[in-house]
Amino acid sequence: MRRPRILVTGGAGFIGSNFVRFLRSWRPEYRVVVLDKLTYAGRRENLADIPECERFRFVQGDIADQALVDALFAEERFDFVVNFAAETHVDRSILEAGAFIRTDIWGTWVLLEVVRRRGTGRFLQVSTDEVYGQVLEGSAAESDPLAPRSPYAASKAGADLMALAYHETFGLPILITRGSNTFGPYQHPEKFIPLFITNAIDDQPLPLYGDGRQVRDWIYVADHCAAIDLVLHQGEVGRVYNVGAGNERENIQVARLILRLLSKPESLIRPVADRPAHDRRYSLDTSRLRALGWAPRHPFEEALAETVRWYQDNEAWWRPIKQGEFAEFYRRNYGHRLGG
Ligand code: NAD
Ligand code: TYD
Repeated sequence: MRRPRILVTGGAGFIGSNFVRFLRSWRPEYRVVVLDKLTYAGRRENLADIPECERFRFVQGDIADQALVDALFAEERFDFVVNFAAETHVDRSILEAGAFIRTDIWGTWVLLEVVRRRGTGRFLQVSTDEVYGQVLEGSAAESDPLAPRSPYAASKAGADLMALAYHETFGLPILITRGSNTFGPYQHPEKFIPLFITNAIDDQPLPLYGDGRQVRDWIYVADHCAAIDLVLHQGEVGRVYNVGAGNERENIQVARLILRLLSKPESLIRPVADRPAHDRRYSLDTSRLRALGWAPRHPFEEALAETVRWYQDNEAWWRPIKQGEFAEFYRRNYGHRLGG
């Protein structure tokens, strides 16, 4: 019997690699094909424990490469597509937005266009709560207008709108998840939580933007993966689903928690110049997702402690990443802020 086939783009990145492992455990009958360009953010080693076999194939390639994507769809005839592939860091989008437009908007369009011509089962576009812009009061519902404020968020919003347009115009079986800030193993150390953990391990300053009172709604990566799987299989086609666990915390609270978990002094926190257009708060109304039967399983403080332990135990994973290209980015983004 033919195995169900799923394409996971960006499967060598943070959430994508966790999602591939989720599928291996919970949908062992699936054939999982990863398509990943292996940018600075993607690593083949993130999937090193999964051997190439009938159940798993890794393809290095760009979602914006129409010929490659078309050939892959012709060969594999996917039943499901989950599009994680994206440029994802707000600070990098402020320094250089072009790659975000190319991958997040154009690349998503290439996938949609191939799906339109070749056909597929359900296509889930992995999006973000950042498309709503900052939410100063209450919580964003899926029907709220999009008001992105960073080039990253604007690119993701463009992809959401294109995916929905392909559903309306061509009847493609599209679903969208808009996830909140995610954390856990294999997250690139450019992002807030792993940056602060790894800097603290090395007794380096933790560059806290502005007054540190910005609020993010944190979700553990395993909970995010379970939500994506549920929406993919049981969501209503053409709909958007917010994905959040309701753990709203100020950045400074999270920084203090990390330092406490590592027994490091609060004097490592270094307030620095704020990010331009820094969204003050994100908050999601997740009743639509919860009505499908999803609930988070990982309490925030426990999951954060687990994550801190993972970075303590996996220095061989993150130390090389913090050298080379990242060191250059760090100088560009933080050099003037840290006065060096
Ligand atoms: P990540 O940066 O860790 O991984 C992105 C992956 O995409 C990398 O493996 C990279 O090599 C690959 N990629 C980039 N450009 C590509 C291209 N042109 N073709 C093929 N592969 C390409 O990102 P992440 O944090 O795992 O995020 C995954 C998805 O989830 C993104 O779409 C992001 O917008 C969304 N999201 C992330 C968060 C979060 O907090 N991390 C929250 C909500 C939504
Ligand atoms: P980040 O992980 O970049 O996610 P996003 O900007 O997509 O929410 O940042 C999370 C929060 O942490 C955000 O409010 C910005 C803040 N932050 C800092 O204060 N210092 C840093 O060095 C970074 C990377 C982020």
